[in-house]
Amino acid sequence: MSIIAAIKNRNSNAFMSDREVDPDLIRQILDAAVCTPVHYRTDPWRFLVIRGAGRKKLGDVMAAHLAKGMSDPDSPKNIELRDKMRKKSFRAPVIIVAGAARTDCAKGLMVEDVASVSVSCQNILLAAEELGLSAFWRTGSLTYAEDTVQALGFDKDTALAGFIYLGYPAKEMPPKPRPTSEAFTRWMNE
Ligand SMILES: Cc1cc2nc3c(=O)[nH]c(=O)nc-3n(C[C@H](O)[C@H](O)[C@H](O)COP(=O)(O)O)c2cc1C
Repeated sequence: MSIIAAIKNRNSNAFMSDREVDPDLIRQILDAAVCTPVHYRTDPWRFLVIRGAGRKKLGDVMAAHLAKGMSDPDSPKNIELRDKMRKKSFRAPVIIVAGAARTDCAKGLMVEDVASVSVSCQNILLAAEELGLSAFWRTGSLTYAEDTVQALGFDKDTALAGFIYLGYPAKEMPPKPRPTSEAFTRWMNE
């Protein structure tokens, strides 16, 4: 598959089977993930791979984050909402949490390291496309909460870029109509 074909064919697909993804395949995807442009060679990429029973821990972190925004987390309705949230971590057999570490490079800019890690997220999506896996990228307020960073074992100052859900497709998604660049582009030729 050409790179441009992978870019154009890729789309988010949340329909995934329970089939396990081989850890070696995940390693192959992550090796592609770290092939990003990166300023000052800060090597900011940090990944947490969550699989199997590890997903319960993620579900607990998600539910605890939700509870923080509730005035009465133990009301029957809110218990139900938290249970629903807990189940979201089981939407895929693998979840990769991608973060940008705060490095001690004096010249390094966090915004550039986060950009590099965001590129690694796209690399994950494209590698998944080539390998016949489904994938989708999620964030939400959970991603930007200090508690989440620490609960998932990242260093305190890590900026999370997202949660990438991965698995084998249970259903193929039809290609999406995509815009052309014309409407978003200005050219300065002289
Ligand atoms: C940084 C980032 C965070 C995102 N977070 C969410 C999210 O939390 N929930 C959601 O429904 N879509 C989210 N999206 C959008 C989806 O990942 C997806 O790109 C979008 O639904 C368009 O579908 P496509 O990937 O098939 O083009 C996010 C996208 C990016 C780039």
